[in-house]
Amino acid sequence: MNRRSNVRISVFDDLQSLSQSAAELFQSLSRSSIGAKGRFAVALSGGTTPRLLYTLLGASPYQNTIEWHSIHLFWADERCVPADDPASNYKLVRDTLLKKITIPEENVHHVHGETDPELAAHAYEQDIKAFYGTVAIPIFDLIILGIGADGHTASIFPGSPTVPESARVAVPVYLEKPQVNRVTITISVINHASNVLFLVAGKAKTNVLQNILYGGNPKAYPAGLVSTENGTVTWFIDREAAGK
Ligand code: 6PG
Repeated sequence: MNRRSNVRISVFDDLQSLSQSAAELFQSLSRSSIGAKGRFAVALSGGTTPRLLYTLLGASPYQNTIEWHSIHLFWADERCVPADDPASNYKLVRDTLLKKITIPEENVHHVHGETDPELAAHAYEQDIKAFYGTVAIPIFDLIILGIGADGHTASIFPGSPTVPESARVAVPVYLEKPQVNRVTITISVINHASNVLFLVAGKAKTNVLQNILYGGNPKAYPAGLVSTENGTVTWFIDREAAGK
């Protein structure tokens, strides 16, 4: 990657230390944002990697030291399934974090995956726009992302129509396999964030990570399209994913 000055990469021995540092960064960014403007808006990803981070945030000390009442939680993407479905990213965050903290219900902006993908995407888009008011593209204070072995991030998959810059904030994604339709924020929203934090762990990500961070054509991968104009992109990577 022709490393821009606003890209930072940290390699950790294991997922535990990676997640601990991510929790520290979450707390630090939330304090700065709440101190500056009284609120902190963060979009969370699903999958397996961030589970430990959410668990740490829902436990001492973060459970009580982070000012949850001033934090608004959004999702980078969601599967179009009911909220109690094991595949639900909302369920992941509810079970690991929401049940452990005191946060106003109106601060939790989740996708209603139980509805039709287009309706769910439109409703979610309206929720985000209502929160941000009239700005064209919302500026999240933090977006937490993972990457798939195919280079997808959020639910922006290689070749998906949402890959090009999109005027929309959130769009439906119809996947052939696994046959689970989704809703995702668009790459233009990700690229307007003040902070993007990628959490990447495990050997399965080594090749795609090398291609994205050091390969000749990072933009061949949706995660390689993440390039914030005025923000910072931080990669937290464990040793397995970092490879040699
Ligand atoms: C999702 C995520 C997705 C995830 C990657 C990595 O809804 O699944 O948003 O983009 O971040 O697939 O998933 P793992 O953390 O499980 O490797």
